[in-house]
Amino acid sequence: MNNQFWRINSRPDGTDFTSALALIEEAMPDIGPGEIRVRNAMLSMDAGTRLWLTDREDGYQPPLPVGAPMTGLVVGEVIASRAEGFKEGDLVRAFGVWGAFSQVDAVMSGAVILDPSVADKRAWFGPLGMNGWTALWGIEQTGAAKAGERVLVSAAAGATGVLAVQIAKLLRCETWGIAGGAEKCRFLTEELGLDGAVDYKAGGVGAQLDVACEGGAGGFDVFFDNVGGPVLDDVLTRMNHYGRIAVCGLLNDYGSGTRTAPREFDQILMRRLRVEGFFSPDFMDQGERLTARLKGWHEAGQLTMPYDVTRGLENTLSAYEKLFTGGNIGKVIVEL
Ligand SMILES: NC(=O)c1ccc[n+]([C@@H]2O[C@H](COP(=O)([O-])OP(=O)(O)OC[C@H]3O[C@@H](n4cnc5c(N)ncnc54)[C@H](OP(=O)(O)O)[C@@H]3O)[C@@H](O)[C@H]2O)c1
Repeated sequence: MNNQFWRINSRPDGTDFTSALALIEEAMPDIGPGEIRVRNAMLSMDAGTRLWLTDREDGYQPPLPVGAPMTGLVVGEVIASRAEGFKEGDLVRAFGVWGAFSQVDAVMSGAVILDPSVADKRAWFGPLGMNGWTALWGIEQTGAAKAGERVLVSAAAGATGVLAVQIAKLLRCETWGIAGGAEKCRFLTEELGLDGAVDYKAGGVGAQLDVACEGGAGGFDVFFDNVGGPVLDDVLTRMNHYGRIAVCGLLNDYGSGTRTAPREFDQILMRRLRVEGFFSPDFMDQGERLTARLKGWHEAGQLTMPYDVTRGLENTLSAYEKLFTGGNIGKVIVEL
């Protein structure tokens, strides 16, 4: 049986993914002990995977080797299993391959069987998946946001950000977002009901943030940061004393080779800030508990997600690129 999948041929330069990845076809090996073979129905496009495509050895996981298939979260049906607890016909989510099939070790790939009664399967990549856990953990645990506090989220119109701002609102925080472009800011304020939005592509980020700070007491209590880079400096000087910065991601750096090094670092001392990174695999063991909470909000219509769906494995790279050019609102998915 053959598999068609995206192979990493070289390290991509910026957003030039077509020169670096190639769609190839190869025979699949026999299924080994502990493995499942999944017919992928959907691929999740996640910005953090851009880091795995660099040669950086000091990331939170080693780089994917050149010559290897591109890895990412997939949802699909088990078509063969030699793993305990998994059988043909199970709907699963796992770290698999950007391909027609994923043949993976069930344990190493974090495979979980999904509740087939959830009507919109895309939710397993959004509110009920890694983006949901990340948003909830970052706002509530790392950011320690409390009712009445002012929360700011960067990349707020993307998959993780859309959930983070809604969760902050559900926790009765005053919620602001940063996003690129007037349309995304309109979406955040008019459709999600945020208290305000800052268009970082329009320039004058500091002055735009001052509008939030002047509207009430002080500045921001929590910054859920997906981006890093120069905007972090604008925020550091507008944090309230004893504020928390939950470092979720560093989109500014992933494809550019830069490293965020805040000029305003001293404000961490001056304002007694807590700055803490967090990483979803670290709390995967609590996935069930987090999902149950997210599911409650989702079923009540309080946690929504716009989906940006691309059809066809051959179109995967243009879907992926959107994460780095800002072409998406909400979760980017490839349906096969
Ligand atoms: N710590 C964890 O465990 C964890 C787990 C999941 C995700 N994450 C992080 O969450 C962040 C969002 O990931 P996602 O997969 O949900 O993607 P996403 O937010 O759906 O898409 C990325 C968005 O980020 C914005 N962006 C891209 N490059 C940017 C840049 N250089 N400067 C400012 N904004 C930029 C773009 O929107 P604009 O139009 O607004 O620019 C784009 O739409 C990433 O940093 C990722 O690493 C972390």
